[in-house]
Amino acid sequence: MCGIVGYIGNRNSLPIIIDGLKHLEYRGYDSAGVSIINSDKKIYSFKKAGKVSIMDDAIDKDFYTGSIGIGHTRWATHGVPNDINAHPHFDMYDNIVIVHNGIIENYKYIKTRLIEEKYTFITDTDTEVLANLINYYFRKTKNFEKAVRMALIEVEGTYGIACLCAEEPDKIIVARKGSPLMLGIGNGETIVSSDASAIINHTKNVVYLEDGDMAVLTKQGFFLKSVEDKDIFRNTEVLDFLIDEIEKGGFDHFMLKEICDQPETIQNTYRGRINFETGVVKLGGLEHVMDKLINAKRFIITACGTAWHAGLVAEYMIEQFCGIPVEVEYASEFRYRRPIIRTDDVMISISQSGETADTLAAIREAKKFGATTIGVVNVIGSTIAREVDAGTYIHAGPEIGVASTKAFTSQLMSLALITLMIAGEKKTLPDKTLIEIAQELKNIPEKIKHMIDMREEYKKVAEVFKDTKNFLYLGRGYNFPVALEGALKLKEISYIHAEGYPAAEMKHGPIALIDEYMPVVFIAPKDRTYEKIISNIEEVKARKGRIIVVASDDDEQISSYADHILRVPTTLPIFAPILNVIPLQFLSYYIAAARGCNVDQPRNLAKSVTVE
Ligand code: F6R
Repeated sequence: MCGIVGYIGNRNSLPIIIDGLKHLEYRGYDSAGVSIINSDKKIYSFKKAGKVSIMDDAIDKDFYTGSIGIGHTRWATHGVPNDINAHPHFDMYDNIVIVHNGIIENYKYIKTRLIEEKYTFITDTDTEVLANLINYYFRKTKNFEKAVRMALIEVEGTYGIACLCAEEPDKIIVARKGSPLMLGIGNGETIVSSDASAIINHTKNVVYLEDGDMAVLTKQGFFLKSVEDKDIFRNTEVLDFLIDEIEKGGFDHFMLKEICDQPETIQNTYRGRINFETGVVKLGGLEHVMDKLINAKRFIITACGTAWHAGLVAEYMIEQFCGIPVEVEYASEFRYRRPIIRTDDVMISISQSGETADTLAAIREAKKFGATTIGVVNVIGSTIAREVDAGTYIHAGPEIGVASTKAFTSQLMSLALITLMIAGEKKTLPDKTLIEIAQELKNIPEKIKHMIDMREEYKKVAEVFKDTKNFLYLGRGYNFPVALEGALKLKEISYIHAEGYPAAEMKHGPIALIDEYMPVVFIAPKDRTYEKIISNIEEVKARKGRIIVVASDDDEQISSYADHILRVPTTLPIFAPILNVIPLQFLSYYIAAARGCNVDQPRNLAKSVTVE
């Protein structure tokens, strides 16, 4: 949510900042801006509503040539997305300029106080208030670092900030609380960013800031202190992904690339973690909490959006194979409803970004009550990954398309591995079954590849439905969460209204929507609910609904019910969601692309939701 880049070193900062902002744009794209300190030691800013490319086209590159600068791409929280509200923001004396991710919750109170001190404001943003507050303390202390510190101590809410000071034009000060920030350590230069994708082009060595950390960056390097002025030390870590992974690689969109990457990403999730001959799973990051896992009285799964759908699938898996009760909660609801949490509960939190504010808050709540917290996270070194007691990375690689695809299937695979690991330890599954599952797991990448090769078939169906106004998605058992996920994918990138339901629930309301215009997608692999779902299909057919079925390759009977068939390879029920979601990802992608939608950056959405 919003992206920050800053550069200090000996190179021209503008191209580095703009390139970084383009890599961060998936986090927010309402407006973009930069502030550069030119060789005359003065700060010059330029900002524009709209995408980074609009700012990039409009800015005079011969003028902005300094080697110190900060930039921002915005996802609006306070104030409409226009030129004025775009970051960076100056204080009223043009002394402090700041880019900010997050929300200052007490900004109204601070603003009122500053107005009493004769400060005036030109934007509706909380960030401008923070710039003025820093300047207020700068006027008292004549010290940039002290002023930032004093201001931040007063602030309630979340922030990742980078700021410059006209009266101390040789440094950038950065700080974080609840919003990610990291330093890329180059040769004679430092790049600050909210996300590694803006840094990887320049260096692989990074220092992740933690909540309450502040860093002062100069051309000589940087030093770290806490906002409270205490000494701190953070290790330098090495980024482990390749530049190729954040490029489109010849595909029209990141989303399409990420869908097609799934044979590989799924393999990366399980590689080295399962013995195919014995079915034994080892997840290094969970070994030290194994006792807690096998003796858990209950699992509480918390997540948001797509990750929550993965959590619903895990509920079916864990209850079926491990015999442990599972509750799946929207993290945003969990944190505010005084949940009952016990010390023998284990919370599994699923998050692609590892930064989702609600998921993080749920983890903190669980920790307060002594539960064991484990993370199933994609982004290495993210806040959730660092705050949980134990965890496993899904290793899907950077996901740039705002609509989650490869992270979802890797989350499902990770959750299957956790299930098998616990079932193996608890002996709730016969060895024979474990081996059978492990053998099938090995086939999953090839089966996904088969679907990718036949994506033109899915595209043909998408073309039929591109102008439709509504969609229903229905599934049962393991495939009910897949129905939810299919509907979410479609609505977020094509803006077509879509709902997912457990198929049997249809009779309790949604059936009223069925007429000859309503497409209904059934997820109907040949499993133990097959006959039931055929009855549901008949009910829709009787009301003239248009029937699309995700059906097993070997299901011949289905053609007498379906108007359109999205074929999928057969597999065991535990892996069915991984395969069945793929035609639905393609369906939504091709519908959105045919409608001319901005697939990778759908309106109003941001990749990483770091505000409540
Ligand atoms: C949908 C989507 C979102 C995220 C949700 C949680 O395609 O991407 O629904 O799944 O915002 O994000 P993470 O997984 O980063 O916690």
